[in-house]
Amino acid sequence: MDLLKRAEKSLEFHFERAVGVGAPPRLVDAMRHAVFSGGARVRPQLVMSVAMACGEDVPELTDAAACAVELMHCASLVHDDMPAFDNADIRRGRPSVHKAFGEPLALLAGDALIVMAYQVLLNAGQAHPARLVALMQNLSAGVGLPSGIVAGQAWECEVKADLGQYQRAKTGALFVAATCAGALCCASDASPWATLGASLGEAYQVADDIRDVMGQTILLGKPAGQDVLHDRPSAASELGLDGAMAHFQALIETAIASIPLCSHRELLRQLVRREAERLVPSDVFAQYRLQHHTASQSLSA
Ligand code: IPE
Ligand code: IPE
Ligand code: MG
Ligand code: MG
Repeated sequence: MDLLKRAEKSLEFHFERAVGVGAPPRLVDAMRHAVFSGGARVRPQLVMSVAMACGEDVPELTDAAACAVELMHCASLVHDDMPAFDNADIRRGRPSVHKAFGEPLALLAGDALIVMAYQVLLNAGQAHPARLVALMQNLSAGVGLPSGIVAGQAWECEVKADLGQYQRAKTGALFVAATCAGALCCASDASPWATLGASLGEAYQVADDIRDVMGQTILLGKPAGQDVLHDRPSAASELGLDGAMAHFQALIETAIASIPLCSHRELLRQLVRREAERLVPSDVFAQYRLQHHTASQSLSA
Protein backbone atom coordinates (compact mmCIF):
# COMPACT_ATOMS: atom_id res chain seq x y z
CA MET A 1 0.00 0.00 0.00
CA ASP A 2 1.40 3.42 -0.80
CA LEU A 3 1.94 5.79 2.08
CA LEU A 4 -0.78 8.23 1.09
CA LYS A 5 -3.37 5.45 1.10
CA ARG A 6 -2.03 4.11 4.37
CA ALA A 7 -2.30 7.59 5.93
CA GLU A 8 -5.84 8.05 4.63
CA LYS A 9 -7.05 4.65 5.85
CA SER A 10 -5.50 5.13 9.28
CA LEU A 11 -7.09 8.53 9.64
CA GLU A 12 -10.52 7.14 8.79
CA PHE A 13 -10.11 4.31 11.29
CA HIS A 14 -8.76 6.40 14.16
CA PHE A 15 -11.15 9.29 13.56
CA GLU A 16 -14.27 7.08 13.72
CA ARG A 17 -12.97 5.21 16.75
CA ALA A 18 -12.22 8.40 18.66
CA VAL A 19 -15.54 10.06 17.75
CA GLY A 20 -17.41 7.20 19.38
CA VAL A 21 -21.19 7.27 19.69
CA GLY A 22 -23.45 10.12 20.75
CA ALA A 23 -21.27 13.17 20.01
CA PRO A 24 -22.99 16.35 18.75
CA PRO A 25 -23.42 15.59 15.01
CA ARG A 26 -22.70 19.07 13.66
CA LEU A 27 -19.45 19.20 15.59
CA VAL A 28 -18.47 15.82 14.17
CA ASP A 29 -19.37 17.02 10.66
CA ALA A 30 -17.23 20.12 11.15
CA MET A 31 -14.32 17.94 12.30
CA ARG A 32 -14.78 15.62 9.30
CA HIS A 33 -14.81 18.63 7.02
CA ALA A 34 -11.50 19.73 8.54
CA VAL A 35 -9.79 16.37 8.24
CA PHE A 36 -11.18 14.68 5.12
CA SER A 37 -10.80 17.40 2.57
CA GLY A 38 -7.92 16.40 0.35
CA GLY A 39 -4.85 17.43 2.34
CA ALA A 40 -1.50 16.31 0.93
CA ARG A 41 -0.82 14.26 4.12
CA VAL A 42 2.86 14.99 3.90
CA ARG A 43 3.36 14.92 7.68
CA PRO A 44 1.90 11.42 8.26
CA GLN A 45 3.83 10.14 5.25
CA LEU A 46 7.00 11.44 6.88
CA VAL A 47 6.17 9.68 10.15
CA MET A 48 5.63 6.43 8.27
CA SER A 49 8.69 6.60 6.07
CA VAL A 50 11.01 7.43 8.97
CA ALA A 51 9.46 4.57 10.97
CA MET A 52 10.16 2.23 8.06
CA ALA A 53 13.73 3.50 7.93
CA CYS A 54 14.07 2.76 11.65
CA GLY A 55 12.89 -0.84 11.30
CA GLU A 56 9.21 -0.33 12.13
CA ASP A 57 8.13 -3.08 14.54
CA VAL A 58 4.71 -1.83 15.79
CA PRO A 59 2.93 -0.57 12.66
CA GLU A 60 -0.27 0.25 14.56
CA LEU A 61 1.70 2.65 16.73
CA THR A 62 3.24 4.24 13.64
CA ASP A 63 -0.24 4.70 12.17
CA ALA A 64 -1.53 6.29 15.37
CA ALA A 65 1.47 8.62 15.61
CA ALA A 66 1.03 9.62 11.97
CA CYS A 67 -2.68 10.34 12.53
CA ALA A 68 -1.98 12.33 15.69
CA VAL A 69 0.39 14.61 13.79
CA GLU A 70 -2.10 15.10 10.94
CA LEU A 71 -4.98 15.80 13.36
CA MET A 72 -2.89 18.51 15.02
CA HIS A 73 -2.11 19.95 11.61
CA CYS A 74 -5.79 19.99 10.63
CA ALA A 75 -6.71 21.63 13.93
CA SER A 76 -4.11 24.32 13.34
CA LEU A 77 -5.57 25.05 9.89
CA VAL A 78 -9.12 25.38 11.26
CA HIS A 79 -8.01 27.95 13.81
CA ASP A 80 -5.61 29.66 11.39
CA ASP A 81 -8.44 30.35 8.92
CA MET A 82 -10.74 31.91 11.51
CA PRO A 83 -11.46 35.65 11.45
CA ALA A 84 -9.26 36.20 14.52
CA PHE A 85 -6.27 34.96 12.49
CA ASP A 86 -6.17 34.93 8.69
CA ASN A 87 -9.88 35.23 8.01
CA ALA A 88 -9.62 32.87 5.06
CA ASP A 89 -12.79 31.68 3.36
CA ILE A 90 -11.26 28.77 1.45
CA ARG A 91 -9.11 25.84 2.51
CA ARG A 92 -8.14 22.88 0.34
CA GLY A 93 -10.41 24.25 -2.38
CA ARG A 94 -13.53 24.23 -0.17
CA PRO A 95 -15.13 26.62 2.30
CA SER A 96 -13.06 26.80 5.47
CA VAL A 97 -14.65 25.27 8.56
CA HIS A 98 -15.97 28.53 10.03
CA LYS A 99 -17.46 29.45 6.63
CA ALA A 100 -19.24 26.10 6.38
CA PHE A 101 -20.24 25.64 10.05
CA GLY A 102 -19.89 29.03 11.76
CA GLU A 103 -17.28 30.29 14.21
CA PRO A 104 -18.40 28.54 17.41
CA LEU A 105 -18.22 25.10 15.80
CA ALA A 106 -14.92 25.91 14.07
CA LEU A 107 -13.38 26.87 17.39
CA LEU A 108 -14.69 23.70 19.01
CA ALA A 109 -13.73 21.49 16.05
CA GLY A 110 -10.14 22.72 16.32
CA ASP A 111 -10.13 22.12 20.09
CA ALA A 112 -11.65 18.66 19.70
CA LEU A 113 -9.12 17.67 17.03
CA ILE A 114 -6.24 18.63 19.34
CA VAL A 115 -7.68 16.43 22.09
CA MET A 116 -8.40 13.68 19.56
CA ALA A 117 -4.73 13.64 18.53
CA TYR A 118 -3.76 12.71 22.10
CA GLN A 119 -6.63 10.23 22.39
CA VAL A 120 -5.47 8.42 19.26
CA LEU A 121 -1.95 8.13 20.64
CA LEU A 122 -3.22 6.96 24.03
CA ASN A 123 -5.47 4.31 22.49
CA ALA A 124 -2.66 2.82 20.44
CA GLY A 125 0.24 3.28 22.82
CA GLN A 126 -0.95 1.58 26.00
CA ALA A 127 0.98 -1.59 25.27
CA HIS A 128 4.17 0.45 24.80
CA PRO A 129 4.18 2.97 27.66
CA ALA A 130 7.77 4.16 27.24
CA ARG A 131 7.24 4.86 23.54
CA LEU A 132 3.88 6.48 24.31
CA VAL A 133 5.41 8.94 26.78
CA ALA A 134 8.13 9.88 24.30
CA LEU A 135 5.55 10.34 21.53
CA MET A 136 3.34 12.54 23.74
CA GLN A 137 6.29 14.73 24.71
CA ASN A 138 7.39 14.96 21.10
CA LEU A 139 3.93 15.97 19.87
CA SER A 140 3.54 18.51 22.65
CA ALA A 141 6.85 20.12 21.67
CA GLY A 142 5.64 20.42 18.08
CA VAL A 143 2.42 22.13 19.06
CA GLY A 144 2.92 23.94 22.37
CA LEU A 145 5.44 26.24 24.03
CA PRO A 146 8.11 27.44 23.76
CA SER A 147 8.43 26.88 20.02
CA GLY A 148 5.58 24.82 18.59
CA ILE A 149 2.68 25.87 16.36
CA VAL A 150 0.89 27.86 19.07
CA ALA A 151 4.04 29.87 19.76
CA GLY A 152 4.49 30.37 16.02
CA GLN A 153 0.99 31.74 15.59
CA ALA A 154 1.50 33.94 18.65
CA TRP A 155 4.55 35.61 17.06
CA GLU A 156 2.02 37.27 14.76
CA CYS A 157 0.68 39.09 17.82
CA GLU A 158 4.09 40.49 18.80
CA VAL A 159 5.37 43.86 17.65
CA LYS A 160 8.55 42.31 16.25
CA ALA A 161 9.22 38.77 15.12
CA ASP A 162 12.24 37.08 13.67
CA LEU A 163 11.22 35.46 10.35
CA GLY A 164 13.19 32.25 10.92
CA GLN A 165 11.99 31.81 14.49
CA TYR A 166 8.38 32.48 13.46
CA GLN A 167 8.47 30.02 10.56
CA ARG A 168 10.33 27.33 12.47
CA ALA A 169 7.65 27.47 15.15
CA LYS A 170 4.50 27.81 13.09
CA THR A 171 5.44 25.17 10.50
CA GLY A 172 8.85 23.63 11.15
CA ALA A 173 8.09 22.33 14.64
CA LEU A 174 5.35 19.94 13.50
CA PHE A 175 7.61 18.63 10.74
CA VAL A 176 10.29 17.96 13.36
CA ALA A 177 7.65 16.25 15.48
CA ALA A 178 6.69 14.15 12.42
CA THR A 179 10.17 12.88 11.58
CA CYS A 180 11.04 12.32 15.26
CA ALA A 181 7.73 10.49 15.85
CA GLY A 182 8.72 8.03 13.12
CA ALA A 183 11.82 7.09 15.12
CA LEU A 184 10.12 7.17 18.53
CA CYS A 185 7.43 4.68 17.55
CA CYS A 186 10.24 2.20 16.95
CA ALA A 187 12.03 3.12 20.21
CA SER A 188 14.86 4.56 18.10
CA ASP A 189 16.88 7.67 18.81
CA ALA A 190 14.99 10.61 17.29
CA SER A 191 17.87 13.10 17.18
CA PRO A 192 19.33 12.04 13.79
CA TRP A 193 15.95 12.83 12.22
CA ALA A 194 15.41 16.33 13.58
CA THR A 195 17.30 18.16 10.82
CA LEU A 196 15.23 16.51 8.10
CA GLY A 197 12.02 17.73 9.76
CA ALA A 198 13.40 21.18 10.52
CA SER A 199 14.78 21.91 7.06
CA LEU A 200 11.83 20.41 5.21
CA GLY A 201 9.42 22.28 7.48
CA GLU A 202 11.17 25.58 6.93
CA ALA A 203 11.31 24.88 3.19
CA TYR A 204 7.60 24.21 3.29
CA GLN A 205 6.84 27.58 4.83
CA VAL A 206 9.20 29.39 2.44
CA ALA A 207 7.41 27.63 -0.43
CA ASP A 208 4.08 28.70 1.04
CA ASP A 209 5.32 32.30 1.02
CA ILE A 210 6.49 31.99 -2.60
CA ARG A 211 3.17 30.47 -3.65
CA ASP A 212 1.31 33.16 -1.73
CA VAL A 213 2.96 35.74 -4.00
CA MET A 214 2.80 33.79 -7.27
CA GLY A 215 -0.34 31.86 -6.68
CA GLN A 216 -3.80 31.96 -7.98
CA THR A 217 -6.39 31.06 -5.38
CA ILE A 218 -7.82 28.40 -7.66
CA LEU A 219 -4.51 26.52 -7.79
CA LEU A 220 -3.66 26.96 -4.13
CA GLY A 221 -7.07 25.93 -2.85
CA LYS A 222 -6.79 28.84 -0.41
CA PRO A 223 -6.61 32.62 -0.81
CA ALA A 224 -3.41 34.05 -2.31
CA GLY A 225 -1.77 37.36 -1.35
CA GLN A 226 -2.46 36.84 2.35
CA ASP A 227 1.00 37.75 3.65
CA VAL A 228 0.92 41.27 2.24
CA LEU A 229 -2.76 41.66 3.19
CA HIS A 230 -2.06 40.79 6.83
CA ASP A 231 1.43 42.32 6.90
CA ARG A 232 2.95 38.97 7.88
CA PRO A 233 6.70 38.33 7.94
CA SER A 234 7.36 36.38 4.75
CA ALA A 235 10.41 34.95 3.00
CA ALA A 236 9.28 36.50 -0.29
CA SER A 237 9.01 40.00 1.17
CA GLU A 238 12.26 39.76 3.15
CA LEU A 239 14.41 38.06 0.49
CA GLY A 240 12.62 38.89 -2.77
CA LEU A 241 11.18 36.14 -4.94
CA ASP A 242 14.52 34.94 -6.33
CA GLY A 243 16.12 35.08 -2.87
CA ALA A 244 13.24 33.11 -1.40
CA MET A 245 13.53 30.52 -4.16
CA ALA A 246 17.28 30.14 -3.57
CA HIS A 247 16.61 29.78 0.17
CA PHE A 248 13.94 27.15 -0.58
CA GLN A 249 16.32 25.13 -2.76
CA ALA A 250 19.10 25.33 -0.16
CA LEU A 251 16.72 24.06 2.54
CA ILE A 252 15.65 21.16 0.32
CA GLU A 253 19.30 20.23 -0.27
CA THR A 254 19.96 20.39 3.50
CA ALA A 255 16.94 18.15 4.09
CA ILE A 256 18.17 15.60 1.57
CA ALA A 257 21.74 15.63 2.85
CA SER A 258 20.56 15.13 6.44
CA ILE A 259 18.83 11.79 5.82
CA PRO A 260 20.83 9.26 7.82
CA LEU A 261 22.29 6.22 6.16
CA CYS A 262 19.48 3.67 6.34
CA SER A 263 17.66 1.11 4.22
CA HIS A 264 14.98 3.60 3.15
CA ARG A 265 17.28 6.50 2.38
CA GLU A 266 16.36 6.56 -1.30
CA LEU A 267 12.61 6.45 -0.55
CA LEU A 268 12.99 9.42 1.76
CA ARG A 269 15.10 11.34 -0.72
CA GLN A 270 12.44 10.78 -3.37
CA LEU A 271 9.71 11.90 -0.98
CA VAL A 272 11.57 15.16 -0.32
CA ARG A 273 12.29 15.80 -4.02
CA ARG A 274 8.70 15.03 -4.99
CA GLU A 275 7.43 17.41 -2.32
CA ALA A 276 9.82 20.15 -3.47
CA GLU A 277 8.55 19.89 -7.04
CA ARG A 278 4.92 19.73 -5.90
CA LEU A 279 5.33 22.78 -3.69
CA VAL A 280 7.01 25.01 -6.25
CA PRO A 281 6.77 23.36 -9.69
CA SER A 282 9.86 24.46 -11.61
CA ASP A 283 7.95 25.24 -14.83
CA VAL A 284 5.34 27.37 -12.99
CA PHE A 285 8.11 29.31 -11.23
CA ALA A 286 10.06 29.83 -14.46
CA GLN A 287 6.94 31.02 -16.26
CA TYR A 288 6.00 33.41 -13.44
CA ARG A 289 9.51 34.86 -13.38
CA LEU A 290 9.50 35.34 -17.12
CA GLN A 291 6.16 37.14 -17.09
CA HIS A 292 7.10 39.16 -14.06
CA HIS A 293 10.44 40.12 -15.51
CA THR A 294 8.85 41.06 -18.84
CA ALA A 295 6.15 43.07 -17.07
CA SER A 296 8.65 45.04 -14.97
CA GLN A 297 10.84 45.62 -18.04
CA SER A 298 7.95 47.01 -20.08
CA LEU A 299 6.90 49.22 -17.15
CA SER A 300 10.37 50.72 -16.92
CA ALA A 301 10.61 51.18 -20.74
C1 IPE B 1 -0.43 24.21 4.86
O1 IPE B 1 0.14 22.93 5.00
C2 IPE B 1 0.00 25.09 5.98
C3 IPE B 1 1.43 25.36 6.00
C4 IPE B 1 2.15 24.97 6.98
C5 IPE B 1 2.07 26.10 4.94
P1 IPE B 1 0.00 21.88 3.83
O2 IPE B 1 0.45 22.51 2.54
O3 IPE B 1 0.67 20.62 4.23
O4 IPE B 1 -1.57 21.70 3.74
P2 IPE B 1 -2.47 20.47 3.37
O5 IPE B 1 -2.54 19.61 4.57
O6 IPE B 1 -1.88 19.74 2.18
O7 IPE B 1 -3.79 21.12 3.05
C1 IPE C 1 -0.27 28.23 8.64
O1 IPE C 1 0.47 29.29 8.28
C2 IPE C 1 0.52 27.37 9.54
C3 IPE C 1 -0.25 27.03 10.74
C4 IPE C 1 0.32 26.93 11.85
C5 IPE C 1 -1.69 26.80 10.66
P1 IPE C 1 -0.14 30.19 7.11
O2 IPE C 1 -1.28 31.00 7.60
O3 IPE C 1 0.99 30.91 6.48
O4 IPE C 1 -0.60 29.03 6.13
P2 IPE C 1 -1.78 28.98 5.09
O5 IPE C 1 -1.28 29.76 3.92
O6 IPE C 1 -2.99 29.57 5.71
O7 IPE C 1 -1.94 27.52 4.77
MG1 MG D 1 -1.61 32.10 9.30
MG1 MG E 1 -3.29 31.09 6.91
